[in-house]
Amino acid sequence: MSVMPVMEPSAARTVLRRRFLMCRPEHFAVTYAINPWMDPARGADAGKAVEQWEALRAAYLGLGHEVSLIDPIEGLPDMVFAANGALVVGGRVYGARFTHPERHAEGPAYAGWLKENGFADVLEAQHTNEGEGDFLTLDHVILAGTGFRTDLAAHQEAQEFLGRPVVTLRLVDPRFYHLDTALFPLGGGNVAYFPGAFSPGSRAVLERLFPDAVLASEEDAAVLGLNAVCDGRNVVINAEAAELIGTLRARGYEPVPVELSELRKAGGGPKCCTLELRS
Ligand code: ARG
Repeated sequence: MSVMPVMEPSAARTVLRRRFLMCRPEHFAVTYAINPWMDPARGADAGKAVEQWEALRAAYLGLGHEVSLIDPIEGLPDMVFAANGALVVGGRVYGARFTHPERHAEGPAYAGWLKENGFADVLEAQHTNEGEGDFLTLDHVILAGTGFRTDLAAHQEAQEFLGRPVVTLRLVDPRFYHLDTALFPLGGGNVAYFPGAFSPGSRAVLERLFPDAVLASEEDAAVLGLNAVCDGRNVVINAEAAELIGTLRARGYEPVPVELSELRKAGGGPKCCTLELRS
């Protein structure tokens, strides 16, 4: 009988160098409410958001990743959430088509940047989808969220365009309105997630696909601890997600805590600010 190790060595985890696209939150504000985190009466401070965002960008650069920048557009306060701008897999771009009119103009802005920067193969989506907010790419499968933003039909559209199997997961808690607020890929075909964000059927799917997953508590999910970015070993994660940070460390990952409290006022965290460009 084998004994489970208490700690898994982080040296065993392999880092893959990533290419990210980000958008400095110069025009960040909370002027409308399209998720339960947003309160226009409370507002948000763009200066503080920029400061926190710069630290996130510096963390990626410090880990050896590449960060490209798209120019922020005045009047698009949520444009900082680059993850929603598209889904880029195998050099192909599945364009975003936003749910709310307040964010409609972001889809073409991101598609335009990608076209001008070497991604010629861009599909203008027929169906509503919010890019990597609801599509999380693993080696063999793309996990896709629905229930609040992205249409089920977009899951099929993305699968057909990208030629990757897309597995639908149903989100049921409005605080976790995008898949990337409830789950993140860890590399090596594993994920971390908060079970309470998913329908019973989707929870069963996750248990079957990822028997070894890292499960997060509601407390960690409620500080957007699952809106994290893992490069295979390092996990850039909201600093407040204390328990999850401890669990990840014990499982052989290197947590890199960041402070993004200002962006959380719009319902976003590290992953929301980060679009991965997969060639
Ligand atoms: N205020 C934005 C919205 O509700 C936040 C987007 C966060 N992005 C994400 N990838 N979860 O659309």
